[in-house]
Amino acid sequence: MSKKLQITRIKGATKKMYIVANWKMYPSTLKAARTIMTAGVKAMKSAVGVSLIVCPPAPYLGLLARRKNQHVYFGAQNIFHEFEGAFTGEVSAHQVAEVRAQYCIVGHAERRAMGETNEIIGKKMFECCTAQVTPILCVGERVKDARGDFLHEIRKQITEALLPVPQGLRSKIMIAYEPVYAIGAAHPPTVSDIHQAILFIKKVLIETYGGSIARTTPVLYGGAVDDTTIRDIVKGIPECAGVLVGRASTDPQKLAAMITVLGN
Ligand code: PGA
Repeated sequence: MSKKLQITRIKGATKKMYIVANWKMYPSTLKAARTIMTAGVKAMKSAVGVSLIVCPPAPYLGLLARRKNQHVYFGAQNIFHEFEGAFTGEVSAHQVAEVRAQYCIVGHAERRAMGETNEIIGKKMFECCTAQVTPILCVGERVKDARGDFLHEIRKQITEALLPVPQGLRSKIMIAYEPVYAIGAAHPPTVSDIHQAILFIKKVLIETYGGSIARTTPVLYGGAVDDTTIRDIVKGIPECAGVLVGRASTDPQKLAAMITVLGN
């Protein structure tokens, strides 16, 4: 490991565990969506200290978010970067808040691949924070180099996204570390690699915004997490506040199994 990556552990990390279910453009029926929800809600009943944040496709969001269950929350997968206007097909952070969604994934790699820049992501962060929707900012390198240059990319993603966010609202965000090559892959990176990146994100938060924000901002991991890989990641990384899961979160059994691991 290069010297740049030798970062020491930071004390006082958050302990509450989050599982963000990013359903992407699945499932294709509302019935199937309700089946996944039922499995998740059932598993949540015996999970301790876990918050489930379900991010379904936009048409399901308002329908599913009507259901109230303890520690089960809802989020959008994306919002538009303006307050309102003639933007056919887009959805605003305030509209998301209106249907009782409290979270929104911002800057997911799949959206960055569609041309979303750090500047646009910053505007989305602003819209979310001012609408009292907690943004889950996704950051992560496209390629990992041995010299540690990829860390600059992550630092830039964080600082440029937070630039437009008023100082008083910067403590109201979550971050998901998602290396692009791990999304949809067969396996996540090693626990040690994920750990170093999460510590680096905490370091950037300390240096740029201060220790209190670094302590309270949940930093999650995402990319190839499922019921077989989740335990090593969350139990092996004290600073990891949970996971953002794609594919496996649309499988009712896998979702329930992951919640059970987190809540034990
Ligand atoms: P995956 O997706 O769990 O299918 O790898 C992760 C993500 O959506 O970020």
